[in-house]
Amino acid sequence: MAADSALLQAYRGHRPERLPVWFMRQAGRSLPEYRATRAGTAMLDACLTPELAAEITLQPVRRHGVDAAIFFSDIVVPLKLAGVDVEIVPGRGPVFGRPIRDAADLADLVAHELTDDALAPIEQAVARTVAELGDVPLIGFAGAPFTLASYLVEGGPSKDQQRARTLMHADPEAWHALTGYLARISGAFLAAQVRAGAQAVQLFDSWAGGLSEADYRSGALPASAAAMAAVHGAVPVVHFGTGTALLLAAMRDAGADVIGVDHRIPLDDASARLGGGTPVQGNIDPAMLAAPWPVLERHLEAVVSAGRTAPSHVLNLGHGVPPETDPGVLTRITDWAHGR
Ligand code: CP3
Repeated sequence: MAADSALLQAYRGHRPERLPVWFMRQAGRSLPEYRATRAGTAMLDACLTPELAAEITLQPVRRHGVDAAIFFSDIVVPLKLAGVDVEIVPGRGPVFGRPIRDAADLADLVAHELTDDALAPIEQAVARTVAELGDVPLIGFAGAPFTLASYLVEGGPSKDQQRARTLMHADPEAWHALTGYLARISGAFLAAQVRAGAQAVQLFDSWAGGLSEADYRSGALPASAAAMAAVHGAVPVVHFGTGTALLLAAMRDAGADVIGVDHRIPLDDASARLGGGTPVQGNIDPAMLAAPWPVLERHLEAVVSAGRTAPSHVLNLGHGVPPETDPGVLTRITDWAHGR
């Protein structure tokens, strides 16, 4: 049963017999079968077509034998379902038709409510996927309010989330309204996936590493906590960001059961910063996927050895699979983890 799976045991703080492994962005451009399935379909259309979303979610599980599927979708999908003008531009990322620049933009945004009816294609895709996965658990996910707010305030991807950090301080009331809205949207997206059968969820706060701990605690944590509260206690919640070495304990305090760690800090250091009692997930450097196997294997040994200092460890990357990755390397890492 999925409930007894190595992944869920590790997420609950136990050490299963085999080291569980999955890869952030395992579904996607590194797989030729993904590129074939996606040909001629825009990213968000694929996300909202249940058969396609289910098929793409299953592809890396079939190919690599990983210990979990991650639902194929995107952090902006719930905004799209709420009727917000957003597209995903290939090679760039999410781009919004009306960036949040003033009070009128904000009032317009928060009028876009996300109904349970609108979430139907998500529930259908998840239910279909879970039925096909059998014993392999499905991880649902959502974007954290800070990361989503960064895209919304900037209008698209940005290097340093400068406008978002300005707004946080210049207009705390607007910031609170914006992140509160995004917490409801992401919370509803998580709850829909769990209702339809997802056995764990991960909240991605990819750009939280741009914040000081004080700003994270006052400007990002409350809304992340609200989003995670939508499913807290129902399923294990993983919280991940990049560049977050100084924020790990604060991210756990937001209500996470497991902390995803990027490749910029060793797992033993991360576990110590967490006080030694929190399961960790990570943190193979994505750059190592292109290194010769003996170099990669030494790195894997170091990651797994540092991970032993935590109560439990789920092997993963420090960030997503780069599109140019040879998928055979991901299969080899999976076999290596299972063969130990
Ligand atoms: O395997 C998985 O992880 C599947 C699902 C998944 C996607 N996006 C699919 C996707 C997940 C968990 C995400 C989350 C996501 N989306 C995050 C948080 C994780 C992270 O990477 O930090 C962020 C910041 C986004 C926003 C986003 N969506 C970006 C920056 C991009 C890349 C744009 C590009 O073309 O370079 C996307 C598009 C996207 N999301 C793709 C996939 C498979 C590529 C779409 C394509 O094939 O054209």
